[in-house]
Amino acid sequence: MTLKQDIIIAIDGFASCGKSTLAKSLAKTLGYTYIDTGAMYRAVTLYALHNGLIHQKVDKDKLINRLDEIKISFNYNPETDRNETILNGQNVEKDIRQNQNVSKWVSYIAEIPEVRKYLVHLQQQLGKNKRVVMDGRDIGTVVFPDAELKLFLTASPEERARRRYLELKNNGVDVKFEDILENVLMRDKIDSTRDVSPLKPAKDAIVFDNTNINVEEQFAMVLALIAQRFGYRIDCLLES
Ligand code: CDP
Repeated sequence: MTLKQDIIIAIDGFASCGKSTLAKSLAKTLGYTYIDTGAMYRAVTLYALHNGLIHQKVDKDKLINRLDEIKISFNYNPETDRNETILNGQNVEKDIRQNQNVSKWVSYIAEIPEVRKYLVHLQQQLGKNKRVVMDGRDIGTVVFPDAELKLFLTASPEERARRRYLELKNNGVDVKFEDILENVLMRDKIDSTRDVSPLKPAKDAIVFDNTNINVEEQFAMVLALIAQRFGYRIDCLLES
């Protein structure tokens, strides 16, 4: 199913609020490319961890000097039906999601202006021909301020931590709920209060609190919205 007009869909929001689940379904239905910008910040964090650039804190100057050594791309894996993250030629998909040190440090990496500049440029390149669904924290405000559709997702911290906890447990990762909740709250705080591109809804974003809405209901609501805005009926979107 193709829309009459090529668009950019920007999905921003708090940690673990279902952005990627929604973004993937929308991309699949529309035949668009899904781009997970959080994976890019996570990949830079993994690079910093592997190269001794994080001890008690991030060695910002060294990291900034080495940014052009960090090459990030995505590779579609038909077995998992996912775009997997490639860092300097290595598939790091599992590491960036499951290594809790990455989750611990990523928001400190993401507040460095030079890191953001480097990744935002890459994101803008990936979306220059539109037909993308991009999720992150600053997509509707900074990366694509003219995106045709902007969504901002949120849910209660406990519900978001519960979802992330179940996701990690289902993947066999040994974690404690309290640690996940603490990490979610910490990242929200750093992400929302940093000087550069803080997490906040764009003025023209549609805000969804999905605490009590399940994945299917939310998807149906967003499709209805797209149908209303871009002139398609829900049933013809669902047929494709
Ligand atoms: O999946 P989850 O919501 O837990 O996080 P993520 O999307 O993987 O993003 C990880 C971290 O990267 C966030 O907590 C932010 O610190 C940072 N990030 C950002 O600053 N800007 C973006 N566009 C995307 C992620």
